[in-house]
Order: sequence, then structure tokens, then C-alpha cells
Amino acid sequence: MEFRLEARAREPDWHNAPVPTFGPASARLLIVGLAPGLRGANRTGRPFTGDWAGDLLFETLIDLGFARGVYDERPDDGLALVDTRITNAVRCVPPQNKPTPAEIKTCRRFLDQTIAAMPRLTAIVALGRISHDSVSRALGESPSRLPFAHGREFALPQIGGGVTLFDSYHCSRYNTNTGVLTPQMFRAVFARVRGLLDGVSASPAPAEPR
Ligand code: URA
Repeated sequence: MEFRLEARAREPDWHNAPVPTFGPASARLLIVGLAPGLRGANRTGRPFTGDWAGDLLFETLIDLGFARGVYDERPDDGLALVDTRITNAVRCVPPQNKPTPAEIKTCRRFLDQTIAAMPRLTAIVALGRISHDSVSRALGESPSRLPFAHGREFALPQIGGGVTLFDSYHCSRYNTNTGVLTPQMFRAVFARVRGLLDGVSASPAPAEPR
């Protein structure tokens, strides 16, 4: 809270507040990131917008038909999500970009509400382990029963009309610069989601990298 008040005083023109979910509640796909970046979503007020991670995310979404328009790092760039929503496990920018377990827990009720407000929810993509664990808990599952791994998918027929949880490494600058996550690996996860939503039985999930 103190950190946010300081940021408001320093940058009064920035959003500097909880970043709301982007996209329609009628969407079948929910993407769950970690937390707003200080100079990205925390500044612009739209998830992943102006953040390094947004470049790969929005490019991939446009490519696979989950978004339409041009991503120009501004909330008024006209980019529209298609059958897709984006939220974060933690709604405010955390100090040092590292959310604490307490913040993650506090924000889970917003994640619960976001999920509950999506009557057609069919697929969730969790970006990174922290997001995966928070989503698992929000779905009433335990992360030890559903361990995170890039490319893994969990069918959860007991949730609503049936939900599949897809895991990806987070599309952060660190992960992409170090090659932990390549654009091809990221795209492959969303191609699997595309296949599920289009009712196409796709080839098996890609093997996990060693
Ligand atoms: N920006 C977001 O909104 N979420 C992330 O997880 C990273 C950057």
C-alpha cells in the first residue's frame, strides 16, 4: 500500500491502482498472468500493456485469432480480445515486481470472482508457476495434485461445464531472453487452446523441455 502511495505521488498520471481484468466475461478463454509491471500495466491500467511480456503475448493472441487489431502498448490502441480475457493473479504492482505469498492470497478472491463471472469458461492459460498455483487453489484444487509444468494440461470436468487448465512458462523478459521460453513454445500452448475451443483434436501436447 505504501509502495502504491509513493508511486502515485511520484507518477500522478499513471494508473497506480489495481489493474482490472481485460476482455468480456462471456469469453471461453481466461489467461492469468502474475502481476502488473511497474512501468507497464501499472502505468497504463490494462494487463500486459506496455510491459515487455505484452509484446509476445499480444502478438501470439493476434496470430491465433484470440485478439484483433493492432497492439500499440496503449489502452486506447483499439486492440480487442476475441473470446478471451486477461487477468493477473495479483492485481497491484508488487514491490520489486515480486508478489509475497500474502498478496497472492489476498488477491485470490478477485481471481475467484473473475472465474465465477465467466459462465462459458472452457480454458485457462496460467502463465508461470505462481499463477498456476493460484488458479489451482481458486478452482478448489491443490497445487501438489496439479504440479506446474510448461506445456502440461489438466482436464477438470468438475468445474462448470468442464475446464482445461493449460500451463506455460511466463512470457517475461527473463524467460524469453534466456531461452527458457521461445516464441514457438509459447505459440504451441495457445495453438492447443485454439484446437480445444475449435473442437479440433490436436496432436499430443509438446514434450517438456529438459
Ligand atoms: N504484465 C501483466 O499485466 N502481468 C504480468 O504477469 C506481466 C506483465
